Amino acid sequence: MGIPNFSDGRFNLVKYFIVLVFTAFLTIFLLYFVPLNFAMASLLSDPFLQLPTSDSVRVVWFSEFEGTRSYLKYGKQLETKVEATTTKLSRVREDPDSNVNDEYNQLTERDIWRHEAIATSLNPNQRIPYQVVTMKDRQVISSPQFTLASNPTPGTPLKILLTSDHQLKPMTAANLQKVVETIGRVDGVFLAGDLVNIPDRASEWFDDNRGGAFFPALQGRANYQLGDTIYRGGEIIQYAPLFTALGNHEVMGRFSTTKPLKEQFYDAIPRSVAKELYSEADLKNNSFNTDTYEEIFTLPESQPGGKQYYAVTFGDIRLVVLYVTNIWRSPGTKSNVKGRYQERVKDLDAPENWGYGQHIFEPISQGSPQYDWLKEELASDAFKQAKYKIVMFHHPAHTLGGNIVPPYTDPQPVIERNQDQVIQSLKYEYPIEQDYIIRDLIPLLETAGVQLVYYGHSHLWNRFASSSRMQFLESSNVGNSYGAHWGDDKRRVPQNNPNYAEIGNPNGLDPIIPTIAPLQDQEGNNLPYIASNDITVFSILDTGTGIVSSYRFDTRQPNSEVIKFDQFQLLSRN
Ligand SMILES: [Fe+2]
Ligand SMILES: [Fe+2]
Repeated sequence: MGIPNFSDGRFNLVKYFIVLVFTAFLTIFLLYFVPLNFAMASLLSDPFLQLPTSDSVRVVWFSEFEGTRSYLKYGKQLETKVEATTTKLSRVREDPDSNVNDEYNQLTERDIWRHEAIATSLNPNQRIPYQVVTMKDRQVISSPQFTLASNPTPGTPLKILLTSDHQLKPMTAANLQKVVETIGRVDGVFLAGDLVNIPDRASEWFDDNRGGAFFPALQGRANYQLGDTIYRGGEIIQYAPLFTALGNHEVMGRFSTTKPLKEQFYDAIPRSVAKELYSEADLKNNSFNTDTYEEIFTLPESQPGGKQYYAVTFGDIRLVVLYVTNIWRSPGTKSNVKGRYQERVKDLDAPENWGYGQHIFEPISQGSPQYDWLKEELASDAFKQAKYKIVMFHHPAHTLGGNIVPPYTDPQPVIERNQDQVIQSLKYEYPIEQDYIIRDLIPLLETAGVQLVYYGHSHLWNRFASSSRMQFLESSNVGNSYGAHWGDDKRRVPQNNPNYAEIGNPNGLDPIIPTIAPLQDQEGNNLPYIASNDITVFSILDTGTGIVSSYRFDTRQPNSEVIKFDQFQLLSRN
């Protein structure tokens, strides 16, 4: 035999066989081993819970790829598997103002897919483990394990987080982290609007690189530095269903494929004006929309309000959520301001460029579809029989904050023309006696025995009570504050106009001094509010006791204790 001869036919056969086997192994290695371990894709969010019923709950998560298959596993051994429905978010984009790791030189669509699966046949008051999976080709991408539960039965004591106005503000992640450290796991979250700043900017929901995006903060995956401390937020909505109200920051204005997202956000005009200016066919794109919010969340729905306003029973609570918010415009009165009180001088001959003042997105005035639906809801058995009756919306009813002025009513144009009928000035008035919240909404809630009216928007904590013991709470000093107009701190309003209060609550009720540990001013007087960019506040409703407790945490002293500073009891008003 001697040394193998490469020209030998038999040896060639062996050589080719070895090469073939080696290639096959290499192919298998590359296909299976490499993608799993070296190019692992990840989900864009953890899963979160939505729309619990008596025996089911929805699980929702997001990815930056469609996935070949997405499913939910749940049960003691994760033994039940349910396929997810996958949809693509239709309006999310980034632009050069986005805080993201990828560079966006221009307005660019972003590809984000949403997966939703329903856990069914759940036993009442039984928490079970779950995990979600999205497959990308052969990669199996799994979330960590969490637990889910269906709607708690009446009589189950629940802890509900009352929060709002997160908006990627500096203290939000610290706030949510302290909720979990102080309370432990809450059973539900009521969020009174302003979840992000610009709803069509995808990164504000998922991965803003400053570390404080909406989902990371509510899922314990934030990475937000405040002073020397990095806050992670809290693992909250993986375990507790989230019920939200629409704030002004959930509404996008006129749609454009070129304008910066911030410009589009502020470019909302009333539907009635859009009808005049544009064809009926594309009214939504030519006025305003809440599509991204509605595509992200699976909420209870009403007829005719859909997800925009709804009512739901959660344990002992009947929660009524309203769409009560208007566009925010500057209080400035210089000639170049498209503001709440006026149009810009340079726009006076161009109605398509007007801002139309602080117009209301969805009417709540008497006789409107939302008002009529609310009347029916308040007369329903589900509402009347509930132990706790709570109404949540975004715009304040009573507050020391700035955003309660001007009154919540349709802007009334006051137009000055010259002899040739050319417009010389266009200003807006908001008569306080026509405030729809005070004139129409609150009397309805008073009569129906509502116990708590909960709202946000001014970014402070304060509370009030009516003579018939209906309670009002604004607990929106979460991520930052826009101040309290108390003492010498006056609102920026047109002078000598009784419609626009400079100081205090324009709607009459006096703010209540916190019952346990109020903050004090420099003279040692107890303050009836918290409006701070250092001290963050959260509130918890305990349905076992009917007590709403509010807590504060001073972020200047990261090792300090969280302090319970106020509590009040929800009283039966039937
Ligand atoms: Fe806000
Ligand atoms: Fe707001």
